[in-house]
Amino acid sequence: MAHRWTNTLTERDVTPEAVFLNRRQLIGSAAFGLALSGLTGRARAEAAEAPEPTDWDDITGYNNYYEFGTGKGDPAKYAHRLTIAPWSVRIDGLVDRPGDYAFEDILKKMAIEERLYRLRCVEAWSMVVPWNGFELADLLALAGVQSAARYVAFETVLRPDEMPGVSRPVIEWPYVEGLRIDEAMHPLTIMATGIYGRDIPNQNGAPLRLVVPWKYGFKSIKSVVRITLTDTEPPTTWNKANPREYGFYSNVNPQVDHPRWSQATERVIGTGLFARRQPTLMFNGYGEEVAGLYAGMDLASSSDGGRAAGPVDLPDLRPCRVRDHADRRVPVLPRVRRLR
Ligand code: MTE
Repeated sequence: MAHRWTNTLTERDVTPEAVFLNRRQLIGSAAFGLALSGLTGRARAEAAEAPEPTDWDDITGYNNYYEFGTGKGDPAKYAHRLTIAPWSVRIDGLVDRPGDYAFEDILKKMAIEERLYRLRCVEAWSMVVPWNGFELADLLALAGVQSAARYVAFETVLRPDEMPGVSRPVIEWPYVEGLRIDEAMHPLTIMATGIYGRDIPNQNGAPLRLVVPWKYGFKSIKSVVRITLTDTEPPTTWNKANPREYGFYSNVNPQVDHPRWSQATERVIGTGLFARRQPTLMFNGYGEEVAGLYAGMDLASSSDGGRAAGPVDLPDLRPCRVRDHADRRVPVLPRVRRLR
């Protein structure tokens, strides 16, 4: 792993209280003690760039989770029907230790951190979400990634009895997604288990969902039940549904319009219907961290916003081990403005 990623948050964004932390996730977690500690100097220095987190009501009331319906309010209305305990994730394919990993066991081994990330939907709206979660790389290390692995495939749970939306063939079920192995191992890529220090609500992808902040939101697949390491590019839901409009990479790119609308600007959820649209940033503002992943690729020529122009040389990744949590950065906690 090249480096750890730091939040850009200020001292005033930090609460000294453990009260905002997700208790279920933190008990037994190596991060518990660290989470109560202070703030790094670098975080203070980067304060000016810190975005304002979107309100809880907007993050949990305006959703895309088609398994519960296509309306933005449908997931909040119906997702409580999803049974999220017990939960396990099957990790298989090119790994040393394939198997069903119980969610509770995963939590015990992961360090839960706070990550304040921008979320940019391909529909040209955006939010800022204070996620709780752990790096996907750490989860993959549990299973032991083999050197032949080049891609990671993800699958959402499919339960027609609990998911009213799947009775309609809007897209092919189950929802599937994929990343290149170096994207999956990048320190910005997390599995989220909470928002604002609370368990992640069902409508946002409980009990654990992928978050890849430099890609359009549809790559951040919810309620993951299977992760498969492969040597071939896996199929992805929106690419299967409409390959002309949605590609495998789908990096946020304001210079490449969607065939039906501009991607140059975005509507910031929670700022009111008549608020000024905000310019969309290349790689959603994470270019410094991730642009190097796409060196040599043509980012401008396709609607994908990052489809490979030709074969890509993938980095040679050694099988990884779970890191010693003692050397982790101190998690920085965003101020929680609304908690319920
Ligand atoms: N995952 C599943 N399983 N089903 C979905 O419909 N929608 C995607 C993504 N993950 C979706 C999904 C889209 S289009 C977006 S923008 C984000 O989830 C929205 O995440 P949020 O509802 O937490 O804001």
